[in-house]
Amino acid sequence: MRFEPGHRFGRYEIRSSLGAGAMGEVFRAYDPRLDREVALKVIAADLDRRAGANERFEQEARAASAINHSNIVTIHDVGEEGGRPFIVMELLEGQSLRQLLSAPLSTDLVLRLAAQIADALTAAHERGIVHRDLKPENIFVTRQGTAKILDFGLARICEPNCDPTSTVVTVERLTQSGLVVGRPRHCPARTPTPARISSPSARFFMR
Ligand SMILES: Nc1ncnc2c1ncn2[C@@H]1O[C@H](COP(=O)(O)OP(=O)(O)O)[C@@H](O)[C@H]1O
Ligand SMILES: [Mg+2]
Repeated sequence: MRFEPGHRFGRYEIRSSLGAGAMGEVFRAYDPRLDREVALKVIAADLDRRAGANERFEQEARAASAINHSNIVTIHDVGEEGGRPFIVMELLEGQSLRQLLSAPLSTDLVLRLAAQIADALTAAHERGIVHRDLKPENIFVTRQGTAKILDFGLARICEPNCDPTSTVVTVERLTQSGLVVGRPRHCPARTPTPARISSPSARFFMR
């Protein structure tokens, strides 16, 4: 399967590469049915055969689409094409916070982004969703200066409004219990295992 400009992936036509992370590659693509450009995330070739990878990709789509919030990327579609799971999202124009951090940011922008991210995380936590992988690569800043949280690939879904002081009650266990996931640099200091991650510790990711 080739992901080059002009090639089709299902009904989507690949236009260019937008970025890549640990789980997959994201392409600018065209959806002829709705006559619009979208962001198409396809699971990495070496990951798609690993146990649980498909389920985790699907959970990413489910977690993000469960939260209807202006600072969380909107999911349009999810599926599988030629054995490769994919997610279709709104196409964001701008750059990741990681890219943006290569130059100094104004205090005004930093405060605005922080408030937007905190608001989005609060909305997620109210629905029992803990992101668990919040880092500059997973926050996109649009040309209008709006933060959009991406990549719910490691999200944990628990009971909505679960008691933030207690251990999360997990409904869906897609990561092995006791397995540390995410980047140590962005992990809360007092969260030794994912099983103990709760809303307050997730907010600590923002430091
Ligand atoms: N909806 C989108 N619109 C534009 N660019 C995106 C979008 N989603 C992701 N990207 C780009 O692709 C990169 C990787 O996406 P991400 O979902 O974090 O993949 P991974 O799960 O592999 O880490 C992001 O850092 C961002 O630059
Ligand atoms: Mg990512």
